[in-house]
Amino acid sequence: MFSDRIKDEFPTLKNDTGLVYLDSAASTQTHQSVLDRMNRYYEEQRCNANRGDFPISQQVSADIELAREQVAELINAKPEQIMFTAGATEGLNIIAEWYKDAPYVIITEAEHTANILPWIAQGRTIDNGRLIVLPVTERGTLDTNKACELLANYPNGVLSIHSHSNVTGIGTDYKKLTKAAHDQGIRVIIDGCQTIGTHEFDPYTVDHAVFSGHKMYGPTGIGFMYSRLPYERFRSVRLGGGSVVSYDLNGNVDFYDGPAKHEVGTPNIAGILGLGVAAEYTNYMGYDGMKKHFTDIDFALSDTDIFNIKGLELVFPSYRQNGRYVYTFNCNGFHPSDVSAYLGTQNIATRVGKMCAHPIVNKLSGGKGLLRVSPGIYNTKEDIEKLSEGLCKAIAKLV
Ligand code: ALA
Repeated sequence: MFSDRIKDEFPTLKNDTGLVYLDSAASTQTHQSVLDRMNRYYEEQRCNANRGDFPISQQVSADIELAREQVAELINAKPEQIMFTAGATEGLNIIAEWYKDAPYVIITEAEHTANILPWIAQGRTIDNGRLIVLPVTERGTLDTNKACELLANYPNGVLSIHSHSNVTGIGTDYKKLTKAAHDQGIRVIIDGCQTIGTHEFDPYTVDHAVFSGHKMYGPTGIGFMYSRLPYERFRSVRLGGGSVVSYDLNGNVDFYDGPAKHEVGTPNIAGILGLGVAAEYTNYMGYDGMKKHFTDIDFALSDTDIFNIKGLELVFPSYRQNGRYVYTFNCNGFHPSDVSAYLGTQNIATRVGKMCAHPIVNKLSGGKGLLRVSPGIYNTKEDIEKLSEGLCKAIAKLV
């Protein structure tokens, strides 16, 4: 487990020592170095970027490109494959526009709303055959071999899936699925936002992937897209300043090459600089170290007997001690919202409900909703003991 002192590096935890923060799958805490970098921009470098001939503007423009390199390094990509977005949701909305004419879009039943609604908004439904949904089991798992076989029915479609579920924490074998998809001429989009803060993401041969800064110890409102396919190839979904070399009023527009074509308007400069530092920090902590930390947290959870509390049923019990950082429970005999509300009164942060992934949560809970506990790199054995105590008290009151 990482040292207990690590909490002091996350200001909200440092300033509220009674907070037991176990909602990192929704949003991780932001590291002090990220805030320092963002503040430095506002305090010493505040200006627009890519538009000024004066020193701070030139420096900030170069710093944005440094952030692009830091992000690229985290996933072993090239800087020109990285485009800044407001987050995974915006990334998925842009990509959905790029592929709006695809004959089929294939998703899993376990996707987050951000990877469902942009497709539904295009008029795709299961009934009209333009939205294909790969089912998951009652335990939230996908049968990868069966999914690969099904892909053969949808040549030239688009496969858009997550690499880890925000509901169960279960990873998809996206490499195997990507290979099978490409064999059918199917493009592959990965929602990697639940992976990037805890597990290494290998772009492999996926076509596009999206991520959020606030799930990797960075700021909110900023994220990035990876694209193996050159950005010039895709239509500009958003139009505005900073993306064009020149244009005239007769409709002749010469866009920049690369991600700049799609990064319109004044960028979220502080967010981008903070994201770069968050990527560097994540790299520094290392995914192997995180895996060990989360395994130790898993042992701490087992030691408290949380997994044996009557009425609290872990959705996917056999996936344990392998860097797991999401524990989702069905509540039998009481409502998950009541448990979460009680924990809230004890300053213990968890998440409850449909978790922006209605189809899978409805399937796993019969529509009732689930209770999710999601540790981060700053959680300690003491946090887990407080959680266990809180859960026992809550359930004793409710049954
Ligand atoms: N997608 C986020 C979650 O899982 C907000 O809670």
